[in-house]
Amino acid sequence: MMTEFFRFTREPFDRDIPVEDLVLFHNHNELCARLMYAAEHRQIALVTGDTGTGKTTAIRAVMKRMDDSRYRFLYIANAGLTPKTLYRVILERLQIQPKFRQVDNQVLTHQVLEESYQKGRQVVIVVDEAQDLDPQMLAEFRFLNNFKADSFSPISLWLVGQSELRETMKLRILSALSGRIQIRYHMTGLTESEVHDYISKQLACVGEEKMIFSADAVKLIAKTSQGNPRMMNTLCRGALLDAATREEQVVDTSHVERAWMEVNG
Ligand SMILES: Nc1ncnc2c1ncn2[C@@H]1O[C@H](COP(=O)(O)OP(=O)(O)O)[C@@H](O)[C@H]1O
Ligand SMILES: [Mg+2]
Repeated sequence: MMTEFFRFTREPFDRDIPVEDLVLFHNHNELCARLMYAAEHRQIALVTGDTGTGKTTAIRAVMKRMDDSRYRFLYIANAGLTPKTLYRVILERLQIQPKFRQVDNQVLTHQVLEESYQKGRQVVIVVDEAQDLDPQMLAEFRFLNNFKADSFSPISLWLVGQSELRETMKLRILSALSGRIQIRYHMTGLTESEVHDYISKQLACVGEEKMIFSADAVKLIAKTSQGNPRMMNTLCRGALLDAATREEQVVDTSHVERAWMEVNG
């Protein structure tokens, strides 16, 4: 209904926005650049940030942009991961039959990851929602990444999670892993001027060339969402729907307020 009223080509502010249409705001670019660097230099990266700030989206963008013939991404978003299942999951993703015992799977995993690197297709292991993993499991990543007495690593490992993961990583049992993290990035929201650009870019992607949000509406969205993309999407969609229902062509603060009430009321 909103799409018809505004004559958009598709629903704007969509959760599964195509990579080509992503908004390249400062922190998104910074995070993508760091992840690519980590992949190329086979480093461990720790990415944290509140939910909805765009961490998974940046990962998705990097996975799409990097050369598929040189990098093999294993994306794991599994809260139930344990030291026992970790190696099985990796082997299965690499289409290799796991063995029964964990130690054997660990040896086999190391062998396969090294071979893949030597054959020119380096593996990047991405663990998303890592804040849900218990410290024992996180500690296991240190062993996953332990090749040839630490003199060399054939893989890049990205640990990605909500802000509390940053605190968890300070635990003593994780000090060996923490000490090996070469890249740390904490994702935060967009600035007010970036919020404006975010909204107009999203509109342009669905064929709307005019900025149909008033300046005050943008200000209010920036303030209430703190520049969090997921929150902005919810508010923008709600405000557009409210405006469409009232047959009003410009989104102003009253539409945003009602959208906000609907989310939080
Ligand atoms: N660079 C971006 N361009 C456009 N939309 C984005 C961008 N980053 C995030 N979003 C939007 O915000 C939503 C939340 O982002 P997501 O990456 O899932 O956050 P996180 O993983 O940090 O919880 C996404 O579904 C997407 O719609
Ligand atoms: Mg995510």
